[in-house]
Amino acid sequence: MTSAGRGVRGPWWRDAVCYEIHPRAFADSDGDGIGDLPGATARLPYLRDLGVDAVWLTPFYPSPLADAGYDIADHTAVAPDVGTLGDFDTFAERAHTLGLKVLVDLVPNHTSDAHPWFREALAAPGGSTARERYLFRPGRGVRGEEPPNDWRSAFGGAAWTPVGDGEWYLHLHAPEQPDLNWYRPDVVADFERILRFWLDHGVDGFRVDVAHALYKDPALPDAGPGQHEDPARNHLLPYYDREELHPLYRSWHTLLAEHPAGPPGSAPPGERLLVAEAAVFDPARLARYVRPGEMGQSFNFAFLECPWEPAAIRAVVTESVDAMTAVGAPVTWVLSSHDAVRPVTRYGGGPVGVRRARAAALLMLALPGTAYVYQGEELGLPQVELADDRLRDPVWRRSGGTERGRDGCRVPLPWEGGRAPYGFSSAAPADCWFPQPQGWAALTADAERADPGSMLELYRAALRLRRSGSARAVADGAALRLLSPPDAAHLAFDRGDGLLCAVNFGARPLALPESFDGTEVVLASGPLTDEGRLPTDTAVWLRQVVRSVG
Ligand code: NOJ
Repeated sequence: MTSAGRGVRGPWWRDAVCYEIHPRAFADSDGDGIGDLPGATARLPYLRDLGVDAVWLTPFYPSPLADAGYDIADHTAVAPDVGTLGDFDTFAERAHTLGLKVLVDLVPNHTSDAHPWFREALAAPGGSTARERYLFRPGRGVRGEEPPNDWRSAFGGAAWTPVGDGEWYLHLHAPEQPDLNWYRPDVVADFERILRFWLDHGVDGFRVDVAHALYKDPALPDAGPGQHEDPARNHLLPYYDREELHPLYRSWHTLLAEHPAGPPGSAPPGERLLVAEAAVFDPARLARYVRPGEMGQSFNFAFLECPWEPAAIRAVVTESVDAMTAVGAPVTWVLSSHDAVRPVTRYGGGPVGVRRARAAALLMLALPGTAYVYQGEELGLPQVELADDRLRDPVWRRSGGTERGRDGCRVPLPWEGGRAPYGFSSAAPADCWFPQPQGWAALTADAERADPGSMLELYRAALRLRRSGSARAVADGAALRLLSPPDAAHLAFDRGDGLLCAVNFGARPLALPESFDGTEVVLASGPLTDEGRLPTDTAVWLRQVVRSVG
């Protein structure tokens, strides 16, 4: 690893574990089958007991739900099915009382097509000021029947939709999510207002959606073939990763640092966090979002998308640590989110998937920096195969039914009891946000709490150690030292503070390397063999034993 020797910037978030809540699938308080803010508030003690430091709420704002709330019609209100602004205040206050920080989603790349600005733009003629807030352009072809360029939506299909008067509008996601024109000062000013609004309501930071795409090449040139096929080249697309983003994020950094303190318990100015959701896979390019004076963290999707192979994981770990350490930012580690296939399923499903997901959790939580845990990951929930007629994800529609999309990881959490809806709601199972499968009785929070071998108890033990025990979280990756050779079937590292972690990916049980002499096991993702070897797909934390001399 590099030894930039700068240390990692930042206050509470430099080594925090943040729990992602997808509100409509978390906990329902009023029996309508839809998770809501009062339901989430009631479950906050569960998160405190789990041992996380912060919660991040995915969008809970008024929305037609064309993309699970990432199509926002009003950025400074709460969707009626999820609660009221008062419910949000209560949530934040309760979280702070329990010692949990609160992050919310900021979605600046696009609005909903139901947003008053877009309605106004549609009603206005081509070339009008109202249309300039978005990206309207005349179509190509004799009668404007062709889209203005060849850009593709990340959800499939063209990124342009015609409005019937010769003009088309750009949407890098669903047609219901028109892209804003960030070269317009009123767009910039409006988002400053939104940031200040939520700071006044006690939020401790923002997760910035699609942080890589706000600015598009003003000439709107064709992007050519292969768009979205090779994420490593994303930064070359004319609509991704442009230089103009960075002054904007510097201005937001300053805004967060200078906006007056919020309600009691919220992070003071200077301790607030911006997290980039940037689909930029070149580690050095990604690090530019978290240079001093810009954002605090950036999600590390390369880790999430990495196959269960030691060489690939080793490469991601070293490249991520080097790139982030060079700019003094903590690395973030993510195994799951509301956009990704659940780890248990992604790693092979069944007992193999569970074993690997357990090992991956210990790997992630040993690494220096911050970690994000998505609701249900701590229960080891698998991806759910939903019936076609229940699917909501625009990916399903836009792919013509060839891609099922992300709904299978957005099924409501099972809290207790032997049958659906497992304490999620008092509604009938079929009336819930998504129906839960049968057979989750052993995966409820209550059942797992009572089982020392459960995924939940593994996460709880690891998070307890990260907070206070012999495996305390570290922020800085500069001292990380790899102990395993590049071609080994295992990955082993020493964080530099006496905590060692090893993961065996190979088929044969691994005799712990000599460099592990003089250590004792602190936590393992599964039992070691009788000879003390590390079985396949198992991770272990070890700590150097300090022996008194004489
Ligand atoms: C990233 C979000 O995580 C995803 O759920 C959403 O569909 C896109 N951004 C568009 O907002």
